Amino acid sequence: MKQQLEAIRKAALDAISDAGKAEDLEALRVRYLGKKGELTAVLKQMGKLSAEERPVIGQLANDVRAKLEANIEEKTKELADKAMELKLKSEAVDVTIPGKQEKIGVKHPMYQVLDEIKDIFVGMGFEILEDREVELAEYNFTKLNVEEDHPAREWSDTFYFTEDSSILLRTQTSPMQIHAMETRELPIRILAPGRVYRKDEVDATHSPMFHQIEGMAIDKGITMADLKGTLNEVVRQLYGEHTVTRFRPHHFPFTEPSCEMDIQCHKCHGAGCPTCKGEGWIEVLGAGMIHPKVLEGCGIDSTVYSGWAFGMGLERLALGHFKISDLRLIFENDVRFLEQF
Ligand code: DAH
Repeated sequence: MKQQLEAIRKAALDAISDAGKAEDLEALRVRYLGKKGELTAVLKQMGKLSAEERPVIGQLANDVRAKLEANIEEKTKELADKAMELKLKSEAVDVTIPGKQEKIGVKHPMYQVLDEIKDIFVGMGFEILEDREVELAEYNFTKLNVEEDHPAREWSDTFYFTEDSSILLRTQTSPMQIHAMETRELPIRILAPGRVYRKDEVDATHSPMFHQIEGMAIDKGITMADLKGTLNEVVRQLYGEHTVTRFRPHHFPFTEPSCEMDIQCHKCHGAGCPTCKGEGWIEVLGAGMIHPKVLEGCGIDSTVYSGWAFGMGLERLALGHFKISDLRLIFENDVRFLEQF
């Protein structure tokens, strides 16, 4: 019996020391120390022993049990420590690895120009309005005094949503004038930039979507002199002190009188060169005094109030500003292009 116990001790201690997993240790505990375990089986035979042998073997059996328990406990701890060490190693953060560099990008050149223009107008007390691109024909055309048979209303020029031509993608930012007049208290000073849409094929100077900036001021006693003074000041701030402008008579249905403003070519100073296509001047916007019919249509007494308005193309301005040759570059969003600004 003594040998039996010694054999169990040896085999069990070897097995415990070889165990690689916590489950293996549990299996060993059951196998040797469990109710039906090998050690228990030996102890059950104690009854057969003589009175002298019994305490000696009993003592030995207790020693073996204690030894096995202690070793299992120790080994369990050892395995747990090892597992924790492995886990920590695998989850470790190497603080010496260089971080990923995030590319923040740059503001689109056209929006840089727009921001500059907004700043200038805000500085003069104008409010920025941004609004719907889906518009009623009534606001895009009719309330702006555009006749029923005006060519701009053609299906070949305008994106309509409905068969009856009543809802469309706005072709200009000018309907913002009407919205402002209908919803605001007088006096009004607004700047309304945004996207507009026309059925144009894409080429170096055309796109079915482009941006305009609408400006409008209405108050008592506003004259053409205010229009010219304001726009000259804007151009001066945008292009520098010595920029030369000129105002040419023109026609727009919603202004009377109407004009276009040109700036003298900064390259040739009016002599004519490829930048200005030999003209000496570069057209930047359309403008005029708001037609009394438009004011009256919005419930504003045109004998008391008057106002000016202008509209300009933002892409064209950005092309000139950054000396970009092709409109498509503005929309393609090629990072190699955008990064240059
Ligand atoms: N909406 C016109 C266009 O798209 C531009 C324009 C001209 C706007 C004169 C105005 C204006 O406010 O007074 O061609």
